[in-house]
Amino acid sequence: MAREALVIGGGAREHALVHGLRPYCDRVWAAPGNGGISLEAPLVDARKPEDIIRFFGERRPLVVIGPEAPLADGWADMLRLAGFPVAGPSKEAARLESSKRFAKEVMAASGIPTPAARCAHNENELLSWIQAEQRWPKVIKQSGLAQGKGVSIAGGPEEARTVVESLTGRAAVWHEGVLFEDYLQGFELSVQVVTNGREYQWLPVAQDYKRLTPDPKSPNTGGMGAVAPVLVEPALAQAINQRIFDPLMQYLQRHDLDYRGVLYAGLMISQQGPMVLEFNVRLGDPEAEAIIPIVDVNWYQFWWDLSQGMVPEVPVSGRSAVAVVMVADGYPVSPRTGMPIQLGERIESTVIFHAGTVRRGDQFESGGGRVLAVVGIADTTGEARRKAYHRVSTIVFPHSYYRPDIGQ
Ligand code: GLY
Repeated sequence: MAREALVIGGGAREHALVHGLRPYCDRVWAAPGNGGISLEAPLVDARKPEDIIRFFGERRPLVVIGPEAPLADGWADMLRLAGFPVAGPSKEAARLESSKRFAKEVMAASGIPTPAARCAHNENELLSWIQAEQRWPKVIKQSGLAQGKGVSIAGGPEEARTVVESLTGRAAVWHEGVLFEDYLQGFELSVQVVTNGREYQWLPVAQDYKRLTPDPKSPNTGGMGAVAPVLVEPALAQAINQRIFDPLMQYLQRHDLDYRGVLYAGLMISQQGPMVLEFNVRLGDPEAEAIIPIVDVNWYQFWWDLSQGMVPEVPVSGRSAVAVVMVADGYPVSPRTGMPIQLGERIESTVIFHAGTVRRGDQFESGGGRVLAVVGIADTTGEARRKAYHRVSTIVFPHSYYRPDIGQ
């Protein structure tokens, strides 16, 4: 049987997925992909599952779904129904990410520790809570998907009112709800597992750099870089399993939710132990760009097993990876697109994953906010970091910006 795979999505995470699959596949496609991905996989112009079903005719490649939006829209269910093997959770299970309100209900029902929150469905309700609140800061979080832009930390009532104002007139946001959540002190850690909803295996833990610059007050972004692996003390890993993943698996089983994919727990390690800030139902981006190059596995078999409800082993290599994200001028507010990019020298043990490029013949130009993820791979984080920044220094991309401190 031909080994064929389709990766859904068009960012650097999906480029990393394609890159991992290619050596083990006869053919790999990406839908919609991007300019850089098109060097490694033909692109399919699919905006809905029906486009994929039509494009592939009798063929049934393995489908790996990268981003949250198609999962939330039920692509995994529809493609499975049409006979495709799919690595990605069902629409019902994807509500863990697409409805923060639902995730809170699941955690309350399962005894999973998470900061207390109330959910407002109109501005006046939230404004009255802001007025009465004594303990600041607070977290204001859109319950629905918001492309990484739905969470604000308000230091006091004035800032909180400004957040509410920015949501004025957005009926869909209020319909799904806006959480008013306690703020927690501690350090953040993201743990990703592959799971069939009963058993799970940890992927290497990666650290994401969310702020635009090293200044902790600079704007939040989709992620400016990542490093993996990050070592987690065995006692903490055990607490995370016992308090979070084990009860969540019991919930998924009790409610017969079809989960075949990656589950991402964004945690705060607080004085009371690990607490869940959010669940995501897919690989993190840019975490994936640092994780995929350091897991020594046949990626076709890996995602195939998961699509069949089996949890694959995760044989880590002992290597480290550092991913540095290059963004366009104006990111994250209004990125300038159309800048010509020269990708520079090829350097051993480095790889460039394209996040937002457009290809014109053999030239590239920027086509989004996050444009490239430049990855260095080595035996130590220090060496991986050196390689990544060396590769970055050879790239010509006018007016771009990258953080200088990834992996430091
Ligand atoms: N890097 C955070 C995320 O993918 O949600």
